[in-house]
Amino acid sequence: MSNLYIHYPYCKQACHYCNFHFSTSNKGRDQMIQIMEKELRIRAKEINSSFDSIYFGGGSPSLISPELIASFIKKIKDDFMTSAEIEITIEVNPDNVSQDYLLGLKESGINRLSLGIQSFLDRDLKLMNRAHNSEQAHNALSLVKKYFQNYSLDLIYGMPYSSLLDWKKNLKLALNYKPPHISTYALTVEKKTVLHHQIKQKNVKPISEKAVKEQYDFLLDKMEEKGYINYEFSNFGKPGYFSVNNQNYWNGKPYLGLGPSSHSYDGKALRSWNVSNNHSYMVGVNSGKLKRELESLNTKDRYNEYIMTGLRKSDGLSLDYIKRIFGKTYAAYLEEQVTRHLDQRNIFWDGDYLKVAKHAKFLTDGIASDFFII
Ligand SMILES: C[S@@+](CC[C@H](N)C(=O)[O-])C[C@H]1O[C@@H](n2cnc3c(N)ncnc32)[C@H](O)[C@@H]1O
Ligand code: SF4
Repeated sequence: MSNLYIHYPYCKQACHYCNFHFSTSNKGRDQMIQIMEKELRIRAKEINSSFDSIYFGGGSPSLISPELIASFIKKIKDDFMTSAEIEITIEVNPDNVSQDYLLGLKESGINRLSLGIQSFLDRDLKLMNRAHNSEQAHNALSLVKKYFQNYSLDLIYGMPYSSLLDWKKNLKLALNYKPPHISTYALTVEKKTVLHHQIKQKNVKPISEKAVKEQYDFLLDKMEEKGYINYEFSNFGKPGYFSVNNQNYWNGKPYLGLGPSSHSYDGKALRSWNVSNNHSYMVGVNSGKLKRELESLNTKDRYNEYIMTGLRKSDGLSLDYIKRIFGKTYAAYLEEQVTRHLDQRNIFWDGDYLKVAKHAKFLTDGIASDFFII
């Protein structure tokens, strides 16, 4: 089982915090889908298992017409093995939502929507330079709820100027819709973004790490109270609604990424990524010479990656798996490294599985890095 990821690298406007690969120019937009289909045909030999998830991400794939999405999905299903229960997700920006659009998506074969709400508060949305306001966020979510059973929404916490009360209000507004899945991300100030510049110039003041942790800890409590399972650090789902795409990714399954900047992994030791430039990408595919870089992962890299993804999952990481896949020396190394965090009760053994305690979850990435082999 594997994932197919399709990166649509265009957006209406640039959000101030975002460093994903996208362009706000329309250059090449009309040909992009066709070229990604061509890339898929060129790379067909890399695929040796059936797809159980297709994910249209970006950028803003909700700028693609449902008709084009439908024909892309049909080509994939006609030419490649796909599982009967395949999950097909698209990331949707609220300002692209209308009843006709959603009906078109349903018809195209899309069966899961990820709606980029980010916040219901206009102050946050303005600061983010989002193309939608809170009224559009509510309207979009009401429509999505009406037409799709399986959907998720993205929220960003830790926004500059946000109080715990603001975050409580934001989350309450989201939970009023009883969505089956929510992804929440702590605002990351990425280099070369407008937000980074604003903070450096002292035009925007970030909140403290302690205040961000308070927002995350509140989120954990509230989501638990409402019956969601925090199956991964940033992801909360009702039973039966965990994302197949996300789970495959964290469980080390192969993924094939199409489009500029997309990453691929063969499920063993080979990772690759496409050039992050639309024109260069298109020229490469058209000439049959894909512009991408390859990286071969050694055992140490794969062990470190397993530690990171394993600790972020509610299932935790398995010592037995480490013994079997990486060898006894790696298992012994881990057992030696964990003592301090075990003593501090930041982590605990649940049988063979090492898990992060709720009070320390916010620190997960830091704890994981203490177990890395450098
Ligand atoms: C690849 S983005 C694209 C989705 C879609 N274009 C949108 O903006 O709604 C996927 C998600 O990553 C999150 N994200 C992107 N940049 C972030 C940042 N700097 N800090 C925290 N979350 C971020 C947002 O929640 C966003 O919805
Ligand atoms: S957050 Fe989404 S809409 Fe905004 S620039 Fe990034 S990819 Fe585009």
